[in-house]
Amino acid sequence: MAKQITTARDGFATRLGVLAATLGSAVGLGNIWKFPALTGQNGGASFLLVYVLATLLVGLPVMISEIMLGRRARANAVGTFRQLAPKGQPWHLVGLSGVVAAFLIMGFYTDVAGWVFAYIFKALSGEIATTDPAVAAKAFEALVGNPVQSLLWQWGVLVLISVIIIAGVAQGIERTTKVLMPVLLLLLVAVCARSLTLPKAAEGLAFLFTPDFSKITPNVILMALGLAFFKLSIGMGTMTTYGSYFRNDQDIPLTATRVMLCDLTISILAGMAVFPAVFNFGFEPSAGPSLLFMTIPAVFTSLPGGQVFMVIFFCLTAIAATGAMLSLLEVPVAWLAESFGMPRKRATIVTSVTLAIIGIPATLSMSTMANVKIFGMTVFDLYDFLSSNVLLPVGGIFICLFAGWVWGAANVKTELSNRGQLLNGPIIAAFLTVVRWVSPILVLLVLLKGLKVF
Ligand code: TRP
Repeated sequence: MAKQITTARDGFATRLGVLAATLGSAVGLGNIWKFPALTGQNGGASFLLVYVLATLLVGLPVMISEIMLGRRARANAVGTFRQLAPKGQPWHLVGLSGVVAAFLIMGFYTDVAGWVFAYIFKALSGEIATTDPAVAAKAFEALVGNPVQSLLWQWGVLVLISVIIIAGVAQGIERTTKVLMPVLLLLLVAVCARSLTLPKAAEGLAFLFTPDFSKITPNVILMALGLAFFKLSIGMGTMTTYGSYFRNDQDIPLTATRVMLCDLTISILAGMAVFPAVFNFGFEPSAGPSLLFMTIPAVFTSLPGGQVFMVIFFCLTAIAATGAMLSLLEVPVAWLAESFGMPRKRATIVTSVTLAIIGIPATLSMSTMANVKIFGMTVFDLYDFLSSNVLLPVGGIFICLFAGWVWGAANVKTELSNRGQLLNGPIIAAFLTVVRWVSPILVLLVLLKGLKVF
């Protein structure tokens, strides 16, 4: 008889590890770069309110659906749908669109992550220690406007996360995030404490917490929804892939809710670190994506002990970005490894090299390709818009429809109760109603309105 080789599928080893890795995926540049920028541009507290609603009514149900499907199938984003869908129905296209989204997101995400890593060194050397926003802007443009420098940082980031991914799910992802997540929280609380003790901190807090309802437009709602998808890493199979590594005894609704709440807390803490400081020194809260790289150095330099906090701030941002990138990279890697039988190492290298190529036009959007516009957007903005505001919401609609209607109530009940071991009937009933009716309809309406279809 031929010797049978059975290698157990890799997965998260401990319950705490599951939480750390999943939170590590959710927490990222979305909290520290996107959330304050979008909140600043779209009216502060009113945007925060819409964002929280989108997270509860859409984000959480989609997240639970993805994890549940992935754990049942124990397969990658594409394989999960192939396995669970009725024969002949093309649901695996949802998974494939997810793989495409992973490449688009990573195309610009690794670029921004590269800037963050570069900024740790700039903060250490004192190069960005300036209170003049114009000088800070110059330093930023010197980095992003230099194609060679910014590409090298981006590729460096890709190498770093590839090394962790090659080490495996338990030995790479879980081990890294278990150490990094607590450090991240500690650093963030330190920066927050500094920011909140500034004389004019109250103005920043008022901006973040006093809503102005006149600022809520369909486009603002689309932005908030897009952010909710991006923030929770949903709509494209990241949570499906991570769900496939979940332990059988993990309470899925509880874990998802914890991750969502922690993630929201971290976003709000990031807002509380940024806005009081911004207002205190009279900067503009609506600076957008450059808020992190131009305003923050100027703000921190104005503080006593500012350089130390600036280094801390960029370190914690780099940590957040790393956990998120691990989960993004894992989606295509798991797909290539399982669906094409590639060894994990080769799958990682193939993915990273492809990403390095896809990332070039995004990175050059700030320099040599600044004038290349598609639909009026640079390649960088196009990758971001297409993924966050189109692919993720569309993927989210199909995931809800699949979980609620195709896979159906009986399967949902079995999987979310851990085969009857958890007594969470009411939670499952509420989940089913929302995932069948509320989330898909809401997302569809917001999507059509936001994209000006009606
Ligand atoms: N959630 C991460 C952040 O906020 C980014 C991220 C990781 C992501 N995996 C994802 C976004 C999957 C969309 C889909 O930075």
